[in-house]
Amino acid sequence: MYMGNLRRKDESWDYRTADTKEYTHCFHTYPAMMIPQIARRLLNQYGVEGEWLLDPYCGTGTSLVEASLFGMHSVGCDINPLVRLIATTKLTPIPLKTLDSELNKLNDALFQVEFGVDKIPDTPIPKIPNLDYWFSEEVIISIVYLLDCINKIEDEAVRNFITVAFSETVREVSWTRTSTFKLHRMPAEKLENFNPDVFGTFRKKLNRNREGLAAYMEKRKSVEASICDANTVDGELPMPRPLGGYNLVITSPPYGDSQTTVAYGQFSRLSAEWLGLPNARKIDRIAMGGSHASETLTDTPVSSAIDRIRSIDEKRAREVAAFYIDLERSINSVVQTVSPRSTVCYVVGNRRVKDVMLPTDEFVVYAFGKYGFTHKETIIRNIPNKRMPIKNSPSNVAGQTSITMNEENIVICQRTD
Ligand SMILES: C[S@@+](CC[C@H](N)C(=O)[O-])C[C@H]1O[C@@H](n2cnc3c(N)ncnc32)[C@H](O)[C@@H]1O
Repeated sequence: MYMGNLRRKDESWDYRTADTKEYTHCFHTYPAMMIPQIARRLLNQYGVEGEWLLDPYCGTGTSLVEASLFGMHSVGCDINPLVRLIATTKLTPIPLKTLDSELNKLNDALFQVEFGVDKIPDTPIPKIPNLDYWFSEEVIISIVYLLDCINKIEDEAVRNFITVAFSETVREVSWTRTSTFKLHRMPAEKLENFNPDVFGTFRKKLNRNREGLAAYMEKRKSVEASICDANTVDGELPMPRPLGGYNLVITSPPYGDSQTTVAYGQFSRLSAEWLGLPNARKIDRIAMGGSHASETLTDTPVSSAIDRIRSIDEKRAREVAAFYIDLERSINSVVQTVSPRSTVCYVVGNRRVKDVMLPTDEFVVYAFGKYGFTHKETIIRNIPNKRMPIKNSPSNVAGQTSITMNEENIVICQRTD
């Protein structure tokens, strides 16, 4: 597929020095987050106040938060229950008086045990496999206490707000390395000297998030926003469905299957297990491209690249094909929910496998093109801040690395029928 001059590099989309953590965007980190500036600019270009936006892979809800600030109703879906909780929380207004009163109570409870006024009560430790591989005994006791305090909070919105700060704390006080999103234990020498301040870390996050919420509450418009557990790959449709359909889609799908690209499940696992969320160990298998059917892809913009990969490694080719088959299925579902005059914006990366470049941007144009969407443009931007594996070893040979992803493509297609 020749996309000619519809594909252009534009550094004004890099936002090298922009604050990407304004409003509730500061709540919780996550792999391969979209930066709010991209969603904001796309909303300004293609959004209409009072209409509906969809994000079928919403993650922590970046485009949905921006839709609320812009004045569009929004729906997001994701298969990962931890991010559904984060996104819901980022979108939920809470009267600051209510929040502050609960935060004060919580602070008092922490203070009592921190300064030895009360003993941490003997609460049973949840049965989580390998807990002592990831946390010291001291940290486990503090986490159990925090969780106990959180579970006593009756107001659901406040409880969620505090749970989100808890979730980010759990990862930071664990023995997992912070240099990677995957679960890898710290080296022994680092682990010995690692004495995290659990309550201090938690408090800092609560304060930061409270500021973010206050700023969000001032600017957000009175619109609807909801998050649902719909897997568009399996044909499940996002709910609610607005009467005329969604007018705008702004989304960033995974770059490839979670096992070999970005491990969303591994990143979420520790807090998901503490919180008792479903599928805590299965997310990367349920995610796009996670199961490998024996179907093949012919006559698509990625087919010849997959053939080249197959000539080197049959299994890898199957894994890559599985991802694009899922992406196409998901697009088929999305198309059923959008309005006859809709704009879809997909932020995708053209990754390399076995040193073969996969033109995912062209695949998106092709998949929407089958339903009468016209390719408007593809903007290529540099990724200055995204914590992504910039280098990998495509051939799995130690020392042999190649640049995989330091730019991404914003593919914009429109339906005009
Ligand atoms: C690149 S991330 C989205 C990040 C998001 N834009 C943000 O700013 O946080 C891709 C998301 O797709 C989700 N995902 C993977 N397979 C999915 C599927 N079949 N249906 C819905 N979501 C899926 C992952 O759980 C992940 O949260």
